[in-house]
Amino acid sequence: MEEPPLKLHTNPASPFARKVRAVAIETGLVGKIEVLDRRLTPVQPDPAIVRDNPLGKIPCLVVDDGTALYDSRVICEYLDGLHDGQRLFPPSGPARWTALRRQALGDGIMDAGVLARYETFLRPEERRWPEWVENQKQKFQRALDALETEAEALADTVDIGTIAIGCALGYLDFRYADDGWRASRPKLAAWFEGFAERPSMARTAPKELP
Ligand code: BEZ
Repeated sequence: MEEPPLKLHTNPASPFARKVRAVAIETGLVGKIEVLDRRLTPVQPDPAIVRDNPLGKIPCLVVDDGTALYDSRVICEYLDGLHDGQRLFPPSGPARWTALRRQALGDGIMDAGVLARYETFLRPEERRWPEWVENQKQKFQRALDALETEAEALADTVDIGTIAIGCALGYLDFRYADDGWRASRPKLAAWFEGFAERPSMARTAPKELP
């Protein structure tokens, strides 16, 4: 059997890697990508990833000529150039800037969520900094409030912006379910209920590596 031409270093809990896997499904490229699940933390990088990405971070996509691409934004845009369907990165105009801004907002929520997770889960208890965690959480709470104001405009839009937002909300459900982000954001919650049913979302829901 022919080897898939693309290899993706990933982890099933990472929201950034999820964004790439969701884009792979939306673009019909998923069958061309070999998924390499890696176990890593910021203090224990996996040598197999470091060989391809000096930053030691996932996601990292190795393409058929051996070139390694990172980070998730670069990989998603690369994949979007490989298919003939509707572009997930609008090529120009207001639609492009809206999609990129929403991607930045979604990525920022993921960033804050992941940083707060590391601070609580990974850092030894005596060295934890509660204000750091609180400020990361405030960051994603403010971003969620901003998204509530544009939630109706997200309807019927499938692009890199809404995919990033979907992955960010999925990560909050995965790691911060007790914080109840839906309570004060009913419009965003309603949008996510529908968006989460897309195969690209349903098939990539975050989980722990066994
Ligand atoms: C997590 O377990 O929450 C996680 C794993 C990998 C990357 C980012 C987050």
